[in-house]
Amino acid sequence: MAEFVTVGDADEVPEGEAKAFDVSGAEIAVARVDGQLYAFSDICTHRHCNLAMGGEIDGTTIECECHGSQFDMKTGEVVNPPATESLETYEAREVDGQIQVGV
Ligand code: FES
Repeated sequence: MAEFVTVGDADEVPEGEAKAFDVSGAEIAVARVDGQLYAFSDICTHRHCNLAMGGEIDGTTIECECHGSQFDMKTGEVVNPPATESLETYEAREVDGQIQVGV
């Protein structure tokens, strides 16, 4: 079972945006869409650009700014190449105004 780690305050991730956090040495992005939090690896599986910084969110899809790969933030699956490998996803929740990620 995942151990939840507090990564920051809830207001650090406003609606429609994503932010990367260092979670026990892993770079994990947290995004908020329709009030729901999604956590996934911040590192694009194509050529390792950071996704949260500069990535464009459309619904539950995030597009890497480097070469346009798109990933489903819910499942981590590739929606559009050139990436071929899925992102790791994690559980995310909000407790007492703080964001927690399950690792
Ligand atoms: S590094 Fe993300 S699409 Fe190439």
